[in-house]
Amino acid sequence: MPIAFEKVSYTYAPGTPFSYAALKEVDLAIEMGKITAIIGPTGSGKSTLVQHLNALLQPSDGQVLVLDRIITHADKPKQLKSLRKNVGLVFQFPEYQLFEETVLKDVMFGPLNFGVSEEEAKKRAMETLTVVGIDPSIAEKSPLDLSGGQKRRIAIAGILAIDPKVLVLDEPTAGLDPQGSKSMMQLFTQLNRQYEKTVLIVTHDMEHVLNYCDNVVVMQDGKCVTHQTVKEFFNDGKLLHELNIKVPNVLRFKESLAKGGMSLPEGISDLQTLAKAIAGRIKP
Ligand SMILES: Nc1ncnc2c1ncn2[C@@H]1O[C@H](COP(=O)(O)OP(=O)(O)OP(=O)(O)O)[C@@H](O)[C@H]1O
Ligand SMILES: [Mg+2]
Repeated sequence: MPIAFEKVSYTYAPGTPFSYAALKEVDLAIEMGKITAIIGPTGSGKSTLVQHLNALLQPSDGQVLVLDRIITHADKPKQLKSLRKNVGLVFQFPEYQLFEETVLKDVMFGPLNFGVSEEEAKKRAMETLTVVGIDPSIAEKSPLDLSGGQKRRIAIAGILAIDPKVLVLDEPTAGLDPQGSKSMMQLFTQLNRQYEKTVLIVTHDMEHVLNYCDNVVVMQDGKCVTHQTVKEFFNDGKLLHELNIKVPNVLRFKESLAKGGMSLPEGISDLQTLAKAIAGRIKP
């Protein structure tokens, strides 16, 4: 199993009065080659969970299997560099971590750090900028002169330039406008489908889960309370109610129509397609 949590517990500040058990015996296997959403209320342990994937945090107890590695409490930071090459972690507001004078230097930083030659790092950086939708003509600009959305794409390019197999994003659309969020989510779909990255996305946005993700993991109070396909998840009304999940408008609308006698085909997950399907049913 390439990515799995086995009875993983994590306690912040152990042995102090501030000690806090943020993960409690989490068992979870992530499907490779898919986009998995990690959802759950604030403070439920989502960020703590994903920081285990590149060993930024090491389990207090239990073990994490990532590709060919087993991470436990006992691993030394030095042994973990190769793992960071394979798992790229993008924090919330990654643009705050841009620090080089130019966009190009920022994106080259990762590959150079992993021993790639200057020439190869530059080549990769230019290619990656194109992949994330940034015009390479701004490569020599200062990141400070760019828009928030551009900065975020550049920060993501910096991780992608390392060419990780697994890409982990913690609330990647936070603070972006709806159009910016949409194109960001489309980028992750492209990275998954075209570049075969396994993608994990921490999000609070149920529309994103519905429209862009294959599987969903729900965290609650430091535990994984459910893990299933997105389709199964949004079909399980009882569970959604129990977990207090805000169901996307398109599904709520579809359900009301079904109650009123208009049942529409399965698989409609956006309002535009729903509107077309309704229009097709209304006789002039
Ligand atoms: N450095 C820390 N020291 C002590 N407690 C922490 C630390 N970081 C997080 N916690 C606590 O651990 C719990 C889980 O935090 P975590 O950041 O993983 O939650 P989250 O699900 O990502 O929440 P959000 O949706 O708000 O980002 C929270 O109760 C939080 O207060
Ligand atoms: Mg978080």
